[in-house]
Amino acid sequence: MTSRERVAIIGAGPSGMAQLRAFESAARAGAEIPDLVCFEKQADWGGQWNFTWRTGLDEFGEPVHSSMYRNLWSNGPKEALEFADYSFDEHFGRPISSYPPRPVLWDYIAGRLEKSDVRQLIRFQTVVRWIEFDDERQVFTLTSEDLPTGQSKVEEFDRVIISSGHFSFPNVPDFPGIETFPGYISHAHDFRGAEAFEDKDVLVIGASYSAEDIGSQAFKMGARSVTASFRSAPMGYAWPEGIEERPVVERFDGSTAYFADGTSKHVDAVILCTGYLHKYPFLPDDLALSSPNNVYPDGLYRGVVWQGNPRLTYLGAQDQWFTFNMFDAQAWYVRDLILGRLALPDEQERAASITEWRTRFGQIDSAAAEIRFQADYIRDLLDLTDYPEFDIDRVVEIFLAWKRDKKDDIMGYRDRIYESVMTGTIAIVHHTPWLEELDDSLERYLDVDPDAVEPARSIGDVPRDDDREVLATA
Ligand SMILES: Cc1cc2nc3c(=O)[nH]c(=O)nc-3n(C[C@H](O)[C@H](O)[C@H](O)COP(=O)(O)OP(=O)(O)OC[C@H]3O[C@@H](n4cnc5c(N)ncnc54)[C@H](O)[C@@H]3O)c2cc1C
Ligand SMILES: NC(=O)c1ccc[n+]([C@@H]2O[C@H](COP(=O)([O-])OP(=O)(O)OC[C@H]3O[C@@H](n4cnc5c(N)ncnc54)[C@H](OP(=O)(O)O)[C@@H]3O)[C@@H](O)[C@H]2O)c1
Repeated sequence: MTSRERVAIIGAGPSGMAQLRAFESAARAGAEIPDLVCFEKQADWGGQWNFTWRTGLDEFGEPVHSSMYRNLWSNGPKEALEFADYSFDEHFGRPISSYPPRPVLWDYIAGRLEKSDVRQLIRFQTVVRWIEFDDERQVFTLTSEDLPTGQSKVEEFDRVIISSGHFSFPNVPDFPGIETFPGYISHAHDFRGAEAFEDKDVLVIGASYSAEDIGSQAFKMGARSVTASFRSAPMGYAWPEGIEERPVVERFDGSTAYFADGTSKHVDAVILCTGYLHKYPFLPDDLALSSPNNVYPDGLYRGVVWQGNPRLTYLGAQDQWFTFNMFDAQAWYVRDLILGRLALPDEQERAASITEWRTRFGQIDSAAAEIRFQADYIRDLLDLTDYPEFDIDRVVEIFLAWKRDKKDDIMGYRDRIYESVMTGTIAIVHHTPWLEELDDSLERYLDVDPDAVEPARSIGDVPRDDDREVLATA
């Protein structure tokens, strides 16, 4: 690296923040780091975790980024996403439960960076409009716009790190007759709360996390019925009375949905939980990742380096079992490539590595195998850098126990607790079961005397090897 090297980071969500943290930790240890500019179109950091009530376009006419809703709680145990260099204990000073609501996780992510001065490296409310690469000069030209003033700026960078997320551009399929459906229709991206669904018949289309969580949220808020419509396979949970699964919707006629098994149902509201598109409107097609949502998108060496131009890297482009600590593993690796601490193999060797991982990816046949695949991927990165070691196999066990908990009790799994892989701390049981808790604020969440609550269950209670039957599907 030369001291004049300039690096652009696109997005200050958890991935971009991980990249800032990685450089900051190297600088703290005495390394010379490049000039960093992080572009963030929102007014604050946190990416998806930075909640907004807005939907569609924001106050500047920009597409709203976050797909999170008011009452969102973590859908996986926090023990699976914990940073290895900043524990929950360090942040909160005491044990908390395993499934915090969104504001609590937002506070945790932000807390790690608030102790340093990296915030000044972020240009908030600045959207990246276009990036081009000059082959001859080996530089990127980046055009950004300061949203409040509308002023654009053109700058050059030696490297670009894309951390703009891939759960913001909704995949919106069409259904015959939906154009005359008289009730409420939206995509999960625009869902902000289920209170309005009290006494309504709600249809969620999709069979993944959004369908599961928005359907559960609607149930929690008093929907008369929730129907989840699957295309490939049902979620298969032991749903409470009031939630059912049916096959894919073939057509709508007025407010009646007709399903592939010949049944039909009156519905008041339809929420398309049909996933998201990888979309990078600020990149020309030779630099833009184009992939379905999966754990090993093609064209990325070690899951991060763009094969077509290794000066460009992507963070968090994978489908995510692991999240925050995976972004860290990637960010530390990218940092060390940029600092010249690690050598990048030649094009052929990179291609061979991509093929090898993609072949393994093609052999994944269960959720358990996919979790282990992602664990192996992270381990491969961790072996290369000084990111603090942690017991990834133990995190895999937590994921498997979590899957089992969901099979046991889909409405109660968030009341279970786990042990931190980083500190050994056993989480506390939240003072109010998830199904009854209607106040998702940080204040309400922390309003508890930790000595008053006994841990009810830890990972130690969970069988570790018999996951095959439970985990036959993702
Ligand atoms: C509804 C929902 C719920 C989720 N729940 C969980 C959960 O419970 N637990 C979990 O671990 N993970 C969860 N996730 C996964 C989530 O993707 C990750 O936790 C994490 O937010 C990904 O971080 P990221 O930085 O890669 O992307 P993002 O969080 O999407 O952040 C990307 C950032 O880039 C900015 N940006 C985008 N384009 C531009 C541009 N052109 N110019 C400037 N800035 C730009 C955005 O404003 C944003 O701040 C959830 C995702 C969704 C959609
Ligand atoms: N509380 C939480 O923490 C929470 C809540 C919601 C979401 N999330 C996160 O958000 C991310 C995205 O999850 P997601 O569920 O939105 O997307 P996803 O995991 O990509 O799933 C998309 C779903 O849509 C279905 N689908 C796509 N096209 C369809 C069509 N034409 N007809 C019928 N079904 C169709 C898919 O079915 P097939 O299986 O047939 O392809 C799949 O079930 C995940 O990281 C998840 O963890 C978290």
